[in-house]
Amino acid sequence: MGRQMKYWGVMLSVVVIALLAIPAMGKSKKLKVCDKGWECSHSVYCCNETITDFFQVYQFEDLFSKRNYPVAHAVGFWDYHSFITAAALFEPLGFGTTGGKLKQMQEVAAFLGHVGSKTSCGYGVATGGPMAWGLCYNHEMSPDKSYCDDNLVYPCAPGAEYYGRGALPVYWNYNYGVIGDGLKEDLLNHPEQLQQNATTAFRAAIWRWMTPMKKKQPSAHDVFVGNWEPTKNDTLSKRLPGFGATMNVLYGDLVCGQGFADNMNNIISHYQHYLDLMGVGRGQSGDNLDCAEQEAFNPTDKSKSSADASS
Ligand SMILES: *[C@@H]1O[C@H](CO)[C@@H](O)[C@H](O)[C@H]1NC(C)=O
Ligand SMILES: *[C@@H]1O[C@H](CO)[C@@H](O)[C@H](O)[C@H]1NC(C)=O
Ligand SMILES: *[C@@H]1O[C@H](CO)[C@@H](O)[C@H](O)[C@H]1NC(C)=O
Repeated sequence: MGRQMKYWGVMLSVVVIALLAIPAMGKSKKLKVCDKGWECSHSVYCCNETITDFFQVYQFEDLFSKRNYPVAHAVGFWDYHSFITAAALFEPLGFGTTGGKLKQMQEVAAFLGHVGSKTSCGYGVATGGPMAWGLCYNHEMSPDKSYCDDNLVYPCAPGAEYYGRGALPVYWNYNYGVIGDGLKEDLLNHPEQLQQNATTAFRAAIWRWMTPMKKKQPSAHDVFVGNWEPTKNDTLSKRLPGFGATMNVLYGDLVCGQGFADNMNNIISHYQHYLDLMGVGRGQSGDNLDCAEQEAFNPTDKSKSSADASS
């Protein structure tokens, strides 16, 4: 839809420019493609700065320094290679490649801030402080149910359980179904993939970051990088572009519109801690950092799908 239209718009203008340019050009110029090895292979994208240019393995290790401590719950699971492999698939769609270098670094910190806060086992007294324990989990530890809802489109597979798994934990059969469709992976029949394959877990999380939950709504990526113009309704509901609205897209009123509640503050703290560690600094958190007063894009009582994905 929106993207399709823009795509054709771009194609048309390219055609027009090409037609105008023909008399002036001797021969047509071929688009340059570049290769950076496994991090980015053979695409026009790789010629520009991509995530590996400003987010290297030592930075990943800094952000998630405690994830392989013996007391962590997913020792050996998460690694830099999986994150970059997953991210590379979304870079052509703008993930970590939109705007200038500052915006690109902010987006990586923002996305990982969400991931860190959702997978943390850092409590008040943890060594290294509560922000040092992101990527401690890759699945919910003691689910009290199997998160199987009657759903005609995405019926539960026999015996499968749909408790929280992944980097932005996915709950419920219908969410595994939707995300599986998005990734072209059979997550409905193989939900365990999200705790067995870190690349798939990161792909699912980035897909969620990049994808609007409803038609005509922005994605978390859109509200963060400035792809989104608030409507009058949005402004009246105090929804403005920035990190705050990413929490609104992902969690709605489970996190937003509740004042400065702990769960919201915790996500913001991870984002800002990662900005510091990446050398950007929390002074560059951007406008509209919180969503304390925002009304949800999708209030829970009217639609459970968006909020449940991450409850
Ligand atoms: C690469 O960066 C330039 C300058 O910012 C931009 O105009 C161009 O569209 C980018 N190319 C791709 C493939 O994103
Ligand atoms: C993990 O999943 C990716 C696709 O997301 C696939 O390419 C890769 O082979 C898988 N790795 C393993 C060890 O199964
Ligand atoms: C604006 O908000 C009102 C009240 O929440 C809603 O009924 C209406 O459909 C919204 N309009 C648009 C264009 O989203």
